Amino acid sequence: MKQRIEKMDLKGKRVIVRCDYNVPIYNGKILDDTKIVASLETIRYLIEQDCKIILLSHLGKIKTEEDKQTHSLEPVAKRLKELVGREVYFSKEILDPELKKRIELMLPRDIILLENTRFLDVPNKLESNCDAQVAQFFASLADVFVMDAFASAHRAHASTTGIAKYLPSCMGFSVEKELLALDRFLKEPKHPFTVIMGGAKVEDKLELIGTLLPKCDHLLLAGGLANSFLKALNFNIGSSLATESTKTIEKLKQIMLTYRDKLMLPLDAIVGSSYDEAYTRYKKINEITDNEVISDIGVKTLAKYKTAIQDSETIFLNGTIGIYEEERYSNGTKELFNLLKNCKAIVVVGGGDAVSSVKSLGYQEAFTYLSVGGGATLEYLTKGHLVGIDAIMEEEEIEILDV
Ligand code: 3PG
Repeated sequence: MKQRIEKMDLKGKRVIVRCDYNVPIYNGKILDDTKIVASLETIRYLIEQDCKIILLSHLGKIKTEEDKQTHSLEPVAKRLKELVGREVYFSKEILDPELKKRIELMLPRDIILLENTRFLDVPNKLESNCDAQVAQFFASLADVFVMDAFASAHRAHASTTGIAKYLPSCMGFSVEKELLALDRFLKEPKHPFTVIMGGAKVEDKLELIGTLLPKCDHLLLAGGLANSFLKALNFNIGSSLATESTKTIEKLKQIMLTYRDKLMLPLDAIVGSSYDEAYTRYKKINEITDNEVISDIGVKTLAKYKTAIQDSETIFLNGTIGIYEEERYSNGTKELFNLLKNCKAIVVVGGGDAVSSVKSLGYQEAFTYLSVGGGATLEYLTKGHLVGIDAIMEEEEIEILDV
């Protein structure tokens, strides 16, 4: 068992916390603060323990100097201040030796958030390549490291796995909660176990599909993922999003041969057109023409998927079903969510896009568990472990260190 935050003696210590504040920000406005809210339990606990709290996070991918203009964590510091009800200092500096002095001057319960750790990726990818000096610098700012960024736990960065090499470490509450939920519901899922997968790129999901198929009873497909399977079956999918790779098509054919009894594909669709923005039609899946774009699932598909959903004890939903952001293509997603809401199964939603669709259509209270992790949740399900969690100390190690 990895060390839990409540088992650590943190009273009055300097504690550095890796959060995942990779939140959608548009024109300086935070569009979804779920991940910030997820960090509050750990932060409030550290306040109770009179700690000096130093927060780290990445935001987006930083490849050029220009990327930095739109990826500052400053709006997160402001939102966190509102949520936590006390000052959250923000440091534009990440590696400056002056930071140590600034932290020395902080009072117990003070909170400071450092600028986006991925700013260190330009030019030398210091954060993403887990640079040892950067990790040591972060570690030098504190006495203890708390890993509370479940959604980043599949990344071996200086601020995740790197720092854990140089400090006593433990899981934060958010990480602990995610692991408990995923283990409880999905490690040995109650059968019949149904996986519903949508989303854009089939290549991103092939490994997951390969790992989940032997474990599940039904795999229901939608979105670009389903389009690629339909293409492999020689259906005309018009101008819909699908794989272009012949290698992938061959793999999909193989999967369909091996698991034909488990796989379910759309029977009909709501289509748009690559030429005419106003064009919206209902089509059976064998009626689609060259310029049409599959944008939602239709009623026959829903009726077919309903049989699997009603039969299930556990359901895992990943990815999006259609272009739910547009009213005319949102019906399939809403009706599917209604089926999930009214079925007897444990329903776990994993992945940023799936969780966003659930929240934006108002179904956040309808399901058993929403996982904040995207890639991390998928990697945990396929590989059974995450580098960022592996790096945290075991309970026994802490006893030996006596921190
Ligand atoms: C996520 O949103 O999945 C995490 O914050 C990880 O982000 P990344 O894929 O940019 O590492």
